[in-house]
Amino acid sequence: MHWFEDEALWSDFSGVMFSARRAEEAARLVAEAPLLDFPENARVLDLCCGPGLFVVPLARRGYRVTGVDLSPLMLKRAEAACAEAGVRARLAAADMLAFTEPESFDVVLNVYTSFGYFEDPRDNARVLRNAHASLVPGGRLLVDLMGKEVLAGWIGRPQVVELGDGAYVVQRDTILDGWRRLRTDWTLVRDGRASEASITSWLYSGAELAAMVEEAGFTDVACHGGFDARPYDQHAGRLVVTATKG
Ligand SMILES: C[S@@+](CC[C@H](N)C(=O)[O-])C[C@H]1O[C@@H](n2cnc3c(N)ncnc32)[C@H](O)[C@@H]1O
Repeated sequence: MHWFEDEALWSDFSGVMFSARRAEEAARLVAEAPLLDFPENARVLDLCCGPGLFVVPLARRGYRVTGVDLSPLMLKRAEAACAEAGVRARLAAADMLAFTEPESFDVVLNVYTSFGYFEDPRDNARVLRNAHASLVPGGRLLVDLMGKEVLAGWIGRPQVVELGDGAYVVQRDTILDGWRRLRTDWTLVRDGRASEASITSWLYSGAELAAMVEEAGFTDVACHGGFDARPYDQHAGRLVVTATKG
């Protein structure tokens, strides 16, 4: 089993990844961020949608949203989040390695470091080609992850995240293969018991991810330092690559 197929990882560590604070932040971004401002009624694919942190505000804004995720548990949570918010979205279980719906979307989003999961770099390239195939001509791609340059600015010390219910998570990051890949080890301590999980994914600089996106057939490729379209420079908080299917 690949690490990303482990349901327990996404569920046990959801307090770190899918916190209420992140849900609020996603809602704010969808309402305000220029890079998430799409034409009215746009068909938006949220690839690797998780429990729907972006699906809900995107649907609330009137976009026709499809959320795709490998994890049935995450999709169940996304469904519950949509129901609670009173919005509609189509949710589908699929592997990003295989998912394509030719020329069916105006926008493909892949956010919060949901890219670079496959060990073989050709598989990660294939995800971008799938996204290209799923877009209509003129459609937009947006990939958001922790860029290599951004990570280099703060990586080093273990981080402790308090989950608010007495539980906490210790996060340790390890650079692998000469800055090609990153392993994140988590220890969750709850009710005196510890559980562990690890994520290993590819690391991309702005130039590396932009080159991959171009290689997949996209044009108009740009690197930004956040959803607010700030430059990808020493002040960047994220690496957000946008591109167009020409
Ligand atoms: C870091 S989470 C991000 C979720 C969401 N984009 C967000 O902003 O909260 C990554 C998500 O990718 C999903 N995932 C992992 N591997 C996948 C794959 N091969 N195909 C589709 N989804 C996958 C996981 O189940 C998880 O929900």
